[in-house]
Amino acid sequence: MAPPRRVGVLTGGGDSPGLNAVIRAVTKSLILDRGAEVVGFVDGFAGMVERQSRPLTLRDVSGILTLGGTILGTSNKANPFSYHLRGNADVSGEAVRYARDELKLDAVVAIGGDGTMSIAHGLQQGGLPMVGVPKTIDNDLMFTDRTFGFDTAVAIATEAIDRLHTTAQSHHRVMILETMGRYAGWIALYAGVAGGADVILIPEVEYDIEEVARVCRAREQGGQRYTLICVAEGAKPIGGQHAIRQVVADSPDPLRLGGICGVLEQQLSQRLASEVRRTLLGHVQRGGTPTAFDRTLATAFGAYAAAMVAGGQYGRMVATQEGRLTSVALADVANRQRLVSRDAPMVAAALAVGTSFGVKDFSFHFDGSRPSPLMT
Ligand code: F6P
Repeated sequence: MAPPRRVGVLTGGGDSPGLNAVIRAVTKSLILDRGAEVVGFVDGFAGMVERQSRPLTLRDVSGILTLGGTILGTSNKANPFSYHLRGNADVSGEAVRYARDELKLDAVVAIGGDGTMSIAHGLQQGGLPMVGVPKTIDNDLMFTDRTFGFDTAVAIATEAIDRLHTTAQSHHRVMILETMGRYAGWIALYAGVAGGADVILIPEVEYDIEEVARVCRAREQGGQRYTLICVAEGAKPIGGQHAIRQVVADSPDPLRLGGICGVLEQQLSQRLASEVRRTLLGHVQRGGTPTAFDRTLATAFGAYAAAMVAGGQYGRMVATQEGRLTSVALADVANRQRLVSRDAPMVAAALAVGTSFGVKDFSFHFDGSRPSPLMT
């Protein structure tokens, strides 16, 4: 197989710490190891449709490893198969022609979440060779144990819980922290465990408000006169609704979750003598410099993606499974979400240290005679 001569790269969907580390790794690896030229699309798939691209040189990617955001810009609205700025028309053919025929790209590396992987799969079918790199703070992509950005988001949310701990203790309050994560509870689960939250509420386990109130009361009566609750934005009470923060009409995924901490604050205030306060962490979870873990994961993902391009492994996404780098078909990850299962190892760890998931009679233990994959 002829080595790739020109390769495109883009970042799609919401930004995530580590995007620049991937751009750097893909670019450096393709230029230094494979002698290829690299072209970056501006603002994700919008750049492919609007013909906005620029060469990426070694100088362009120097010094960006530690930067949050993306030097290329991104968009979580631009879908060439239903383009928001042209009456939701399918302009994917134009996008493919621009990338493949005009820019003469042999392949495009698309760094993004499930929406980006779905578009990449469509473009691959439309004749543009694509390689995906899994990004999202939500950690909810199928068939990869980790996405980069997640570790940083967890670190930020954990620090928030730590800070809430001291003020909760001082005022003998119930403190609620709401994390992002869409319909998956990964951030709340990991930050909750790392921060020692007493209650973790995730979308995968609908909560019983009476049980949450009982845990708070029991702590108060037992002498631990404060409670820390870490709630995922996608959590909801049994039989209740998601809290919707915003509807972004021209987005392929229009509902923005957020505000369940306010619902919970109200529900608990009606049931408890203690004061209740809420904190909605929001976009700070996505900003700023990536952790060392995310930098290394992003660099490994980027280098592996470049190797996949060199080897003609198109129509696939880089993945990590049980500590190994591998790849999976874009068709298999497109528009699907990986949720927390009730028997996830971190759920067992949380239950083992007495954390409540806001439901009665929920128990699950490690089987100590068998190995357990930690990161799933
Ligand atoms: O997917 C990443 C994410 O930060 C989610 O956790 C959150 O629900 C959503 O994006 C927020 O989207 P926006 O930046 O459009 O408000």
